[in-house]
Amino acid sequence: MMSHYCSQLFFILLLSIFVGLCLASPIGDQRRDRITELPGQPKNVGFAQYSGYVTVNKESGRALFYWLTEAPASRAPRLRPLVLWLNGGPGCSSIGYGASEEIGPFRIRSDGKSLFMNPYAWNKLANVLFIDSPAGVGFSYTNKSSDLYTMGDQRTAEDAYTFLVNWFERFPQYKHREFYIAGESYAGHYVPQLAQLVYQRNKGIKNPVINFKGFMVGNAVTDDYHDYVGTFEYWWTHGLISDSTYRMLRIACKSGSSQHPTVQCMEALRVAVVEQGNIDPYSIYTQPCNNTASLRRSLRGHYPWMSRAYDPCTERYADLYFNRPEVQKALHANVTGIPYSWKSCSDIVGSYWTDSPLSMLPIYQELINAGLKIWVYSGDTDAVVPVTATRYSIDSLKLPTIINWYPWNDNGKVGGWSQVYKGLTLVTITGAGHEVPLHKPRQAFILFRSFLENKNMPN
Ligand SMILES: *[C@@H]1O[C@H](CO)[C@@H](O)[C@H](O)[C@H]1NC(C)=O
Ligand SMILES: *[C@@H]1O[C@H](CO)[C@@H](O)[C@H](O)[C@H]1NC(C)=O
Ligand SMILES: *[C@@H]1O[C@H](CO)[C@@H](O)[C@H](O)[C@H]1NC(C)=O
Repeated sequence: MMSHYCSQLFFILLLSIFVGLCLASPIGDQRRDRITELPGQPKNVGFAQYSGYVTVNKESGRALFYWLTEAPASRAPRLRPLVLWLNGGPGCSSIGYGASEEIGPFRIRSDGKSLFMNPYAWNKLANVLFIDSPAGVGFSYTNKSSDLYTMGDQRTAEDAYTFLVNWFERFPQYKHREFYIAGESYAGHYVPQLAQLVYQRNKGIKNPVINFKGFMVGNAVTDDYHDYVGTFEYWWTHGLISDSTYRMLRIACKSGSSQHPTVQCMEALRVAVVEQGNIDPYSIYTQPCNNTASLRRSLRGHYPWMSRAYDPCTERYADLYFNRPEVQKALHANVTGIPYSWKSCSDIVGSYWTDSPLSMLPIYQELINAGLKIWVYSGDTDAVVPVTATRYSIDSLKLPTIINWYPWNDNGKVGGWSQVYKGLTLVTITGAGHEVPLHKPRQAFILFRSFLENKNMPN
């Protein structure tokens, strides 16, 4: 009797050690991050989702929030690549933009409570990982509040790299899997910078854990000199500014940095913005969202003009949705009680941005030489990082052309244009603004498929 009781106790003890070990293990963390269901989501979506925090700096207490949306079980997620998606700003949330209005599986309804499916979600083709980067953006946080005022490119890249290393420990099934990085706008810095870190730290390692294959950026801040030349030209050729302001911009912003412009350049930009009036610069032929509550005057709103399939005020719905306590609970987000509310962009992180190199082109050169797959795309109705800016930047790389500028085909119509260079593919999406997958979801899906399959845009 006694011994039976003892062995039972012993068994329970063993079991609890086992359970304890399991919960403390990376796999246990992964299980804990599994999302059962998001409030308001459609039933039986057929794919798995995970979200949670990965600590990237113990001393300061910085943790990055991620959301993984796997490919549907019916589409063999284990055979599909992993793609990390980043939005820019700097200071904007990949959860609020990329996941909720661009490439993610769900869109948020105007009630800010319920979700509906995005038929062109990129997780149909790959396992898509969103991270809010850097700390201080979206649900990512730092326990050292002064960090928010000193964020810059370098720390962002280092933290994102640390995130990846730790994340792959939690998700060992993704080790050695084909891996890509993609992003938009100021992620035109984050993506190549993170790509370079991964590439350099993989060097000399056979069969690396982070099996990095390439990157893709859209309407990407690339090279401040060429970006400025191309942006001012776009404003002028699209009739958005006067001749005199065009002349003034070209002189005042000649050697400028886009993150830290000179006083003269700022003054010229101020005049240009007044001349542009109340347009949506991110999508010049559509009306801005009428959001009086927004601090940013018409900076991030959209309105259907050309494509009627999207809602101009979508980021407001994200503000409602992600501030709901039950949504945060379901996402395992904000577990430490972040002392401010969720915002699609952090004004503090964005305004106090520190280091921002003038050009990403040396990194392009290095990674092109390394033979990585590199695609650059541009929605051609964006006046913030316009197609002309991207073309000047890419042209200055002086890459040999393999296939010259040609219209690509979307359902018998021109979807945009493409040029294939040795080491880089350039694609434009016609009629799309800054957030290409928001404005032109089907065209963006074709682009993503072509990128993954390493095929030229369909002719
Ligand atoms: C931040 O502080 C909270 C509260 O002390 C703590 O629970 C959390 O683990 C800290 N975060 C990091 C990343 O160290
Ligand atoms: C903006 O709001 C005003 C007042 O609510 C309304 O009259 C106007 O039609 C709105 N404009 C757009 C573009 O939504
Ligand atoms: C985090 O939760 C607290 C309540 O505990 C809330 O006041 C705050 O707005 C939330 N912040 C974010 C970024 O979700």
